[in-house]
Amino acid sequence: ESENLSVDHRLSQVCEVLKENIPYYDWVGFYFKNGDKDELKLRSFAGEPTDHTIIPFGKGICGQVAVSNKNFVVPDVKAQTNYIACSINVKAEIVVPLFLNGENIGQIDIDSHTPDPFSKEDENFLQWVNERVAKVLS
Ligand code: SME
Repeated sequence: ESENLSVDHRLSQVCEVLKENIPYYDWVGFYFKNGDKDELKLRSFAGEPTDHTIIPFGKGICGQVAVSNKNFVVPDVKAQTNYIACSINVKAEIVVPLFLNGENIGQIDIDSHTPDPFSKEDENFLQWVNERVAKVLS
């Protein structure tokens, strides 16, 4: 229980640090597989609260990454048909899966109010962040 609290605290800190230090990261959150269910649950975030705390596998950008196991970079959210809007201000999104022992257990999700801001550098950086987070979770 107390170990989980400190993990939650550390995840929140990661979200805050990323949001506060990277100008085009406007919302940063970690979703994880919700027990045995085929859905994601929001665990930590920084930015505006979202209604989408539970996302079924396959739904939206996050749900698609839960099944594809691949990074998903969205330069323009308006061009996506399978997309869950959290805020009208969001222009772009990046979701990078988080692996623990080779298993896709969750993801980091970033929304941006800037159009097309994400590059391969963000993908590499967020993969590195997720590898560090996986060590905290293991
Ligand atoms: N836009 C996401 C939903 C999560 S919010 O961005 C916080 C999606 O399409 O899966």
